[in-house]
Amino acid sequence: MSAILTRGRVPKTPHTEFYSEPEVLALEEIHGVAGFSGDWSRKYHYRKYPTQQVREPHRLPLDLRPQAITPPQPLQPWHIRAGRLKAHGDHVSGRVPLVYGRTTCVSAARFEKSCPADRFFRNGDGHELWFIQEGSGLIASEYGVLPFRKGHYVNLPKGTTYRVELASEECALLIIESRLPIQFAPHYLNASGQAHLTSPVVETEAAPPEYRPARDEEGLFRVWTKHGGGFVTEMFLGHHPFDLIGWEGALYPYAFHTDDHHPVVRRIHTAPPARQTFQSGAAPHGGFAVCTFKGQIEGWHPRDIPAPYAHYNVDSDEIMFFSNTGYGARKGLVEPGSFTFHPGSLPHSPHGLAAKRSFAERGKLSDYLAVMLDTFYEPLAVAKQAVPLADKDYPTSWNRDTQGVSAA
Ligand SMILES: [Fe+2]
Repeated sequence: MSAILTRGRVPKTPHTEFYSEPEVLALEEIHGVAGFSGDWSRKYHYRKYPTQQVREPHRLPLDLRPQAITPPQPLQPWHIRAGRLKAHGDHVSGRVPLVYGRTTCVSAARFEKSCPADRFFRNGDGHELWFIQEGSGLIASEYGVLPFRKGHYVNLPKGTTYRVELASEECALLIIESRLPIQFAPHYLNASGQAHLTSPVVETEAAPPEYRPARDEEGLFRVWTKHGGGFVTEMFLGHHPFDLIGWEGALYPYAFHTDDHHPVVRRIHTAPPARQTFQSGAAPHGGFAVCTFKGQIEGWHPRDIPAPYAHYNVDSDEIMFFSNTGYGARKGLVEPGSFTFHPGSLPHSPHGLAAKRSFAERGKLSDYLAVMLDTFYEPLAVAKQAVPLADKDYPTSWNRDTQGVSAA
């Protein structure tokens, strides 16, 4: 679902003479993924290239790298109470890496500050997919302005230059980073990239940024770029980075609200691929899938079991983030903003008597909201930063019913 958009003024033919104003040549930049072969956009800067640094860059003391736990922990399921993070800094300094792998990093952030007007951020490591757990605000980027609120996903391509302005006192995010591009689930798209008629997602529900006129301004503007897995380097430009007279292409940030994910349901239990919203890489042969567990009509077969089966997906490490506590299989255990992490080397199942309790949900509208991430052939590890948030009793929690009744 790569809608190709044009905003502002661009030449009909790429890389041809084009002017911002008489005698001022517009300077073209290609922002692209997968080398010169993936999605891309062409951007036309007013009069300066984005390469024109006016001071020596320097590395900041900020370190966003996930830290390995030593010695390695035993194999176990995890429950990380990320909703308990204290508000700290802005969307950069407030992010805490919690689980990570070779190409994927999952962080949470609870932050209370907007970015200063002269400071911008770029993630040079990964594409970012945000889920907004709490709060609202807007992301201003060179592509335009993108409002967000609780329940939104925001997809920010690697290398987008942006800053965040909060409209609420605090904001809580789940941040999924991937070195690979993040896109809508291809199994819901036709060969032209258009959503199938059976897709839970429709193109017009993905909100692109609202274009703003070029800022042809001189000054000192700082760009913080994340690189090397979590280092941050500060660079200095002598011109405002939002200086595009226009852009055209398929690569740009957008927002998508979970209210606009329309579940596909069956008479019996529906497996997660039906709930898939996004993926990175070549899932299920690499990368990851992101599924939206949005309240839906549960199976109406007279003997349907709405709770999931125990599952042992040996090639997937699974994170399930709970926006609310309505998900029956973990009721009584999880908190809003917490997540479970089930490594692929372990089976996992509903808790206690959840399967039997779920009979009462047959044919009814559920009200849960959760976001699931399944990696494929990429083991994940819990970072040291997550240990203070870990629920130590979780590995043995299946042996007791969460309503206080023995599961045995
Ligand atoms: Fe699962």
